[in-house]
Amino acid sequence: MSPRQETVRNGAPSHDGGSGGAAPNRPVKAEADPRDEVEDQGLRPQRLEEFVGQAELKDHLGIVLGAARKRRQPADHLLFVGPPGLGKTTLAGIVAKEMGVGLRVTSGPALVRGGDLAAQLNDLQEGDVLFVDEIHRMPRPVEEVLYPAMEDFELDILLGKGPTARSIRLPLPRFTLVGATTRTGLLSAPLRDRFGFVARLDYYDDTDLEQIVVRAAGILDIDVDGDGASEIARRSRGTPRIANRLLRRVRDYAEVRGDGRISGTVAAEGLTLFGVDRIGLDKVDRAILDAVCVRFAGRPVGLSTLATAVGEEAGTVEDVYEPFLLQQGLLQRTPRGRVPAPAAWHHLGLPQPPTQARLI
Ligand SMILES: Nc1ncnc2c1ncn2[C@@H]1O[C@H](COP(=O)(O)OP(=O)(O)O)[C@@H](O)[C@H]1O
Ligand SMILES: [Mg+2]
Repeated sequence: MSPRQETVRNGAPSHDGGSGGAAPNRPVKAEADPRDEVEDQGLRPQRLEEFVGQAELKDHLGIVLGAARKRRQPADHLLFVGPPGLGKTTLAGIVAKEMGVGLRVTSGPALVRGGDLAAQLNDLQEGDVLFVDEIHRMPRPVEEVLYPAMEDFELDILLGKGPTARSIRLPLPRFTLVGATTRTGLLSAPLRDRFGFVARLDYYDDTDLEQIVVRAAGILDIDVDGDGASEIARRSRGTPRIANRLLRRVRDYAEVRGDGRISGTVAAEGLTLFGVDRIGLDKVDRAILDAVCVRFAGRPVGLSTLATAVGEEAGTVEDVYEPFLLQQGLLQRTPRGRVPAPAAWHHLGLPQPPTQARLI
């Protein structure tokens, strides 16, 4: 066991990652349940070897951490980038565990003034990990405090005001900053450049998700067979958090409508009932496709117009919904706006109008 493993939380980082300035959002594929939060903690992999998929990232991260351990130094500052639910927060915890150090958790929106960050930094012990979720939402003055801390492990403090003001530098313990964000483009260049290692998380493939479902079912003592696990995996939008959530919803369905066992048929029935279609799209995903295909008739539509049409924040559409629809080849981004890909019409069961073919 490592010497210190306490997790200190400051403020309330959103558990679903950033939403580009919008209120914390949950990319809910089926209704969230208060029990989920508690169970989520138990499902988080603690060590790198338990972390399913993302082979290349794991490989690189393992080397970075291994080298730091060998040198008996804190690891380089790390930035994890990717849509919500892919494992950024989990990885921050893993970094602390693997390094055998303490973990402090805060988030960009919780750091309102420079002093908020200074207080966090000041409380760190040698080698600790400071995790800043939604780091792109950190105000600029807070960023200014972070630069010397990241670079020289020093805190710049301004004393006094006006012409007599002077600044003093206080030494900080050496620490590892772990940042999480949905898109690197949201970060200022100076901040981005101060990370020694930037890792991008991709959507998971069905095989990985199936493994995640089986693992979670084992921990939660849920009876799911191979077909059940693969049906849930297929409908999880490439996202572990969604896979875990759908597993629990299907468990509820199986308990109420059956004998608690999850087969492929039970999973398919349950998920369809919860509005998750056969490729994992939920109501909002389908509303987006419906808007671009029907309401805007395949003409290019801007992000904010599209967001308004489906009743979501632009940031949420951009960070949560759009990346998966793009990745699935259902939506396309053009310089003039978003347009449906031919597969979108097909998925909605609509004929593709001839004008649409000319636009793409
Ligand atoms: N690679 C993985 N292997 C197993 N479970 C995972 C993995 N990545 C994420 N999870 C599960 O998904 C949930 C959401 O992950 P989280 O780290 O909170 O995502 P993010 O911070 O990127 O939004 C976690 O509770 C964890 O149980
Ligand atoms: Mg997170």
